[in-house]
Amino acid sequence: MRKINIGLLGLGQIGTGLYEILTSKKAFFERKLGVSFEIVRIAEKFPNRKRKVHPPKGIMTRDALSVVRDPSVDIVVELIGGTTAARAVIKEALKEGKHVVTANKALLAEYGDEIFELAHAMRRWVCFEASVGGGIPCIKALREGLAANNIESIYAIINGTTNYILTQMTETGMGFSEALAGAQAKGYAEADPTLDIQGIDAAHKLAILVRFAFSGRVRFKDIYSEGIAQISSDDIAFAKEFGYVIKLLAIAKKTADGVEARVQPTLLPKSHILANVNQSFNAILLRGDETGDVMLYGRGAGAHPTASAIVADLVDIAKGSMEGPVDDASVIRALGSRVTVKSITSILSRYYLRFYVIDKPSVLAAITKILGAHQVSISDVIQRERSAGKVVPLILLTHEAPEKNVRAAIRVIDRLAFVKGKSQVIRMEET
Ligand code: HSE
Repeated sequence: MRKINIGLLGLGQIGTGLYEILTSKKAFFERKLGVSFEIVRIAEKFPNRKRKVHPPKGIMTRDALSVVRDPSVDIVVELIGGTTAARAVIKEALKEGKHVVTANKALLAEYGDEIFELAHAMRRWVCFEASVGGGIPCIKALREGLAANNIESIYAIINGTTNYILTQMTETGMGFSEALAGAQAKGYAEADPTLDIQGIDAAHKLAILVRFAFSGRVRFKDIYSEGIAQISSDDIAFAKEFGYVIKLLAIAKKTADGVEARVQPTLLPKSHILANVNQSFNAILLRGDETGDVMLYGRGAGAHPTASAIVADLVDIAKGSMEGPVDDASVIRALGSRVTVKSITSILSRYYLRFYVIDKPSVLAAITKILGAHQVSISDVIQRERSAGKVVPLILLTHEAPEKNVRAAIRVIDRLAFVKGKSQVIRMEET
């Protein structure tokens, strides 16, 4: 029986889930895998906090470095989060010759090159299935299951908080603030929901997916992200009238003139497979040149789903290291050449445009004239209410147009006297 000693950094929600799984299923793993996992050290900033599990006092410490330097530890599981202490401690663990398992999407998105380079130099594994899509084995799918494919595109719902909020807004008609408060009450939104709401959490995860799907380094700052705070209940209702739902999508695709990678609220046709991924669920739709579409669906957060992904990594390392030296093919691929991401202003898309305008003759004509002058062609229009002289919503859908032209047209439209407030622009996707 191969014994694997684990040093756990962080006994929060996910760390607790991992502790529960590894202790309650110890015999199961021994029988199924021939591996005995043992958590031998735990570093935790707040060791006396009330929690569901009670590890022996003797294995607990506040000092993470003492855990990574402990010669008895084979694999360090980093669940501290953030990019400061976690970065230092993971680098130290690798230098100490430990393998690392982490759920830290921000760290890998922003400092992936540095971490993977060090892992490569030290011939150690850095595994991170839990960093994207919680319990969904999407990294494994990209690395192994879809190995025969050139990945052509990724369309993903990889932030449960924003998916929950948008689902609530769609199902009940409530506004963003009320839906956010509901998500916080249910414990979905993190204490500071900014990273979720602004699309940054999803962008971190997309950076990791792009690295493995397109086999290259990607600069996090090249991934454009837009959040959902500006989506109104009107937008959701109008999208519905046109047959669309609004989802926060992480999109990466290869186009004729480069790679696009962005996180954005998106109008998706109701019939789209991702349009029906609701509540806090996540889904990752990968298009391979051999397989066509493959969709992975499941719980993108939560202690046990995320800990399940961590265990999968522990098993990979246990099996890999049993078979001999580290197979660093995946690390080399993780480094790869640079993936150049197109700037947001150079993309083409369809757009949903919503204006609040004074209801009077010639307004629609003036707006469409400006769009036409910028080569933006209209595919559909709604102006339901009739309220002469008052402010009414006017919604236009466009055919595919260059983003820079749409932006230029909107700048002109926003200066018109009969246009009130800031216009809304939401990109649309059909495929
Ligand atoms: N905050 C994330 C989400 C969960 O809402 O999906 C962890 O990645």
